[in-house]
Amino acid sequence: MDFCKLCHNRGLIIEGNLAIPCSCLPQKALARRFKKSGLPPYLRTCTFENFDFKYYSRQNIDLSKGLSYFDSARLTFQAASDFVAAFQENTVTDGLLFTGPVGSGKTFLACCIANNLLEKGHLVLFVIVPDLLDLIRYTYDSNRSPDDPTEQDLLETARQVPLLILDDLGAHNYTEWVRNKLYSILNHRLNYSLPTIITTNINLEDLEEHLGERTTSRIYQMCRPYRLPVDIDIRAVQRQQRV
Ligand SMILES: Nc1ncnc2c1ncn2[C@@H]1O[C@H](COP(=O)(O)OP(=O)(O)OP(=O)(O)O)[C@@H](O)[C@H]1O
Ligand SMILES: [Mg+2]
Ligand SMILES: [Zn+2]
Repeated sequence: MDFCKLCHNRGLIIEGNLAIPCSCLPQKALARRFKKSGLPPYLRTCTFENFDFKYYSRQNIDLSKGLSYFDSARLTFQAASDFVAAFQENTVTDGLLFTGPVGSGKTFLACCIANNLLEKGHLVLFVIVPDLLDLIRYTYDSNRSPDDPTEQDLLETARQVPLLILDDLGAHNYTEWVRNKLYSILNHRLNYSLPTIITTNINLEDLEEHLGERTTSRIYQMCRPYRLPVDIDIRAVQRQQRV
């Protein structure tokens, strides 16, 4: 979030004759802590208005639900916009788990939620899971500067932020160390009823194999699962349309 529409990057909002700190300040501090993992520029263009349903076939049926790809995408999109409304009412609400094949719009839709709520001044942490793990590993590096966040800083933020979005979970072979980090984040969020949105390529039934039983069980409890099914990677479709 570079430019703040609320304070025009002054950091302060004038109310009557009071200058109060803008809600973007904590968001900016958070983005600094997670340097590489803020919402990258391209992902800021992912908004509900730009979500296109033409990529989801009305003919093909997603066997897991018996719905067409189009209807599945509609349900998933609806769940995302319902989430935004519910979160605004009360930040204690169920999270979401978006599953589906490569290039099916999972990250896009998670970013729709992030952009919408960021614009309304909510604190949102969007992290690409492999980047988060790299950042945590880097805290062990003896060359890091004393100003860099510690492992505790990163984990505490991910545990406590009102909305955490974990993009691209479980696409890699996770070690016990990684599983423990993820567990400690998700377990805290579950205990404090803080919502989490997760995107993953892994099918629901295979999550446990990648994340272990304890973490998977918590994800089932915290996040409502939705699928975005496609036959062809939307990236490939878009490339073909450009030539
Ligand atoms: N519904 C949509 N409308 C318009 N563009 C879309 C839509 N869904 C995806 N895209 C575009 O298609 C590309 C792939 O989408 P996205 O990154 O969301 O896929 P993904 O499901 O997260 O894939 P991966 O599993 O590889 O992470 C992106 O360029 C994205 O902007
Ligand atoms: Mg993705
Ligand atoms: Zn501001």
